[in-house]
Amino acid sequence: MSGLAERAQIYDETGSLEDLMLQLSMARGIDEIMAVVRTGVRPLIGADGVTFVLRDHGMCHYAEEDAIAPLWKGQRFPMNTCISGWAMLHREAAIIEDIYADPRIPHAAYRPTFVRSLVMVPVRKEDPVAAMGIYWAQRRRPQDHEVRIAQRIANSAAVAMTNVALLESLAAARDEAVKAQEAIILALGSLAETRDVETGNHVYRTQHYVRVMAEAARARGVYAGQLDDRTIELIVKAAPLHDIGKVGVPDRILRKAGPLTARETAIMRTHAAIGRDAIAKAETHFGAGTRFFRIAQDIAYTHHEKWDGSGYPCGLAGEEIPLSGRLMAIADVYDALVSPRVYKAAFPHKRAVRIILDERGRHFDPLLVDVFSEVEEDFQWILHEFGDDTSR
Ligand SMILES: [Fe+2]
Repeated sequence: MSGLAERAQIYDETGSLEDLMLQLSMARGIDEIMAVVRTGVRPLIGADGVTFVLRDHGMCHYAEEDAIAPLWKGQRFPMNTCISGWAMLHREAAIIEDIYADPRIPHAAYRPTFVRSLVMVPVRKEDPVAAMGIYWAQRRRPQDHEVRIAQRIANSAAVAMTNVALLESLAAARDEAVKAQEAIILALGSLAETRDVETGNHVYRTQHYVRVMAEAARARGVYAGQLDDRTIELIVKAAPLHDIGKVGVPDRILRKAGPLTARETAIMRTHAAIGRDAIAKAETHFGAGTRFFRIAQDIAYTHHEKWDGSGYPCGLAGEEIPLSGRLMAIADVYDALVSPRVYKAAFPHKRAVRIILDERGRHFDPLLVDVFSEVEEDFQWILHEFGDDTSR
């Protein structure tokens, strides 16, 4: 049972109409709305049963109920054959003292039940999306105040259902935007990669390595304060952009089969700044100041820095290098080692691990290397799963 439903149950004993309407306003899904109705309405009105009926493609779906004996929960009836359909189609309450004297009632459906009197109110009067039924086992004329309370509850339920629908459509739109953003990031990362003929699935693999490293570090209390869920997601999302700056490096250098000259190396190294600048430019168009762009720039600009200060482009050392760049460095180098290059064959996993461990405190953050040493088998698994045909 949801917390809301539990609170609604507590309301049974102590609540009021205002409490119930407050519970409805806080509901975040149709199930929670119905739970409030199920647990709160009967004691408030003093009835023997309550149903909540959803309008569902021309049918009345008796979705929820609370009654002294079973009614029609789970059943569906055509709108023009039941009283909830009548209330929704006529946009008004049906108030019935004796159901067997009323031609709108399908008597056969009521004979197995305890019901003798009822009130059925539409939910959202101007365009009903549901109805709420209140039932009594003794024949009695429903009082005006009972009808009024039922209609007020139905009105609150209508507002709650509108809120839920809005929240759901907002969430769907946000999911769509996030998916589009991720697709664009991967596409951009792959674009840089396709020019660099040897790297294959490099961007996908490095993204997975970075996630493994970040989550393992946090689990071990390593930089845990900097690695909340949101930050890890952003780092992982931004990782494919680390070499985006390679689009600015000429093919004759990017694809050169032999070793690079000093000048070519200098040009190759500009990819860090080109990448950062490209992301900064995108940031000016798509939401300046968001953490995603900050992290993506850090990764592009600092993934070739080294812990001992001997890296490029700035020669940053230690924790001057952003954590995202230090994580990326290990992922990037591991993948380069286990992938073939024109100047070397792919190294076996174990050899790559040994090289990274040897660079503890030199190339790489020592604490992250310790984490790496504990999750290196996960790296091997990722390599296996997302390997290029040529890299295994
Ligand atoms: Fe790079």
